Amino acid sequence: MISCESEGLLLEEVEETRLPAVLAIYNHYVRTSTATFHIAELGLDDMRGLVFHTDPRCRTFVLLDASTGRVDGYAGISRYNPREAYDATASVHIYLDPAATGCGTGAKALRFLERYAAAQGFHVLLALVTEENVRSAALFRKLGYVSCGVMHEVGRKFGRLLGVSIFEKTLPASGDPESLPAAEAVR
Ligand SMILES: CC(C)(COP(=O)(O)OP(=O)(O)OC[C@H]1O[C@@H](n2cnc3c(N)ncnc32)[C@H](O)[C@@H]1OP(=O)(O)O)[C@@H](O)C(=O)NCCC(=O)NCCS
Repeated sequence: MISCESEGLLLEEVEETRLPAVLAIYNHYVRTSTATFHIAELGLDDMRGLVFHTDPRCRTFVLLDASTGRVDGYAGISRYNPREAYDATASVHIYLDPAATGCGTGAKALRFLERYAAAQGFHVLLALVTEENVRSAALFRKLGYVSCGVMHEVGRKFGRLLGVSIFEKTLPASGDPESLPAAEAVR
């Protein structure tokens, strides 16, 4: 299991025992927000499918409060598309416990994922952000992601038609020294 610390944030690869906490966080946003386009709450089996990947480069990490060990959220990368030519492109996912938002945890998790993804040989990270999710869009812009398009009115939730912005960032080559801390942390 991968376990490491980055900018004071403890990250631990998701294991079966963490699934209920991760599921509770995700289902909160399913019920209350348009951050995800799931409408009905997920079960544990569904969550397994979201956080465990057949591609060994793709992983999900729980974000732990350093003093209490509480699960403050989870973050990970998954294949953007299983077709071979997309091999070096991953999607980013970050979901924080509502009580842990607004403290910079999302940025720390995202910076870690970038170093981790670069160390795994990924070239491009994508984030699909619902247009009205201004906090998420602000986080990605702050870390240098560029909006490269909007899919208009592709979702409908809570009676609203919703667009999705695509944010992209090209990662430094895996030989870049910036990617080494993560490579060391996860060896
Ligand atoms: C999106 C998320 C990961 C961001 O992480 P976070 O640690 O809460 O990030 P912050 O609250 O520090 O906000 C990041 C930036 O957005 C800005 N921001 C926060 N709320 C905002 C708002 N309502 N409008 C505009 N900007 C906002 C902050 O000012 C901050 O920028 P700054 O550091 O320059 O001040 C987290 O809030 C979350 O898990 N949200 C629910 C699930 C979700 O939307 N996941 C992403 C799916 S794509």
